Amino acid sequence: MKGVILAGGLGTRLYPLTKVTNKHLLPIFDKPMIFYPINTLVRAGIDEIMVVTGGPHCGDFLGVLKNGNELKIKHLEYAYQENEGGIADALRLAEDFADNGNIAVILGDNTTDFDISSDVANFKEGAMVFLKEVPDPERFGIPVFDKESSEKILEILEKPKDPQNNFAVTGLYIYDNKVFDFIRENKPSERGEMEITDVNNHYARSGNLGYRTIDGFWRDAGTFETLLEANIFWSKKKG
Ligand code: G1P
Repeated sequence: MKGVILAGGLGTRLYPLTKVTNKHLLPIFDKPMIFYPINTLVRAGIDEIMVVTGGPHCGDFLGVLKNGNELKIKHLEYAYQENEGGIADALRLAEDFADNGNIAVILGDNTTDFDISSDVANFKEGAMVFLKEVPDPERFGIPVFDKESSEKILEILEKPKDPQNNFAVTGLYIYDNKVFDFIRENKPSERGEMEITDVNNHYARSGNLGYRTIDGFWRDAGTFETLLEANIFWSKKKG
């Protein structure tokens, strides 16, 4: 399986830090942020990776990641996202790279110590999301479970005001190649972005959306608070 890391956007929630460089290159303890999602993929045996980026500091990635070999990536590609069209718009750029195969996708600000090796090895078709219980579910996509079988997700609600449970849909996904057809059918949301949640709901509607709960640490380091929490977690993990 190939891997895609989405590392675009302006990172405005972290201004003025993201005036210095791209959000995904900011430090988390002793490494640039993007090293953590790279490590999640590499640990699962994925060594062909595409980084989708954009914004004013996109050139910084080349100097840090180079050809990826130091991070045990065999083949590293980059794609440039014009404008900030959202996660699904960024993923669209990986279609040729995916070459009709399945892909593991991770947002460049998601750090976890969870091992997805078995999920990658056993994945056959459809889509899979990874859930994590959080104290602030209104910040995330939230699953609606089938009342008869909690094994099944009927729908994902993007940042509901009144979430019915605490399970966040994290920025870690596995897709078969239909994902690119579903992205083509997407329309921009109210915030003007192509939402990954709409893509996931295509799979949910056809009964092809599986999930697994993350057992371990997970944070999206996209706010000052979660960036600090991620720094503290990884500094202790190392020490
Ligand atoms: C995005 C997704 C959301 C998901 C989150 C995980 O939110 O839209 O469903 O829960 O990533 O980090 P965003 O970071 O674009 O606000």
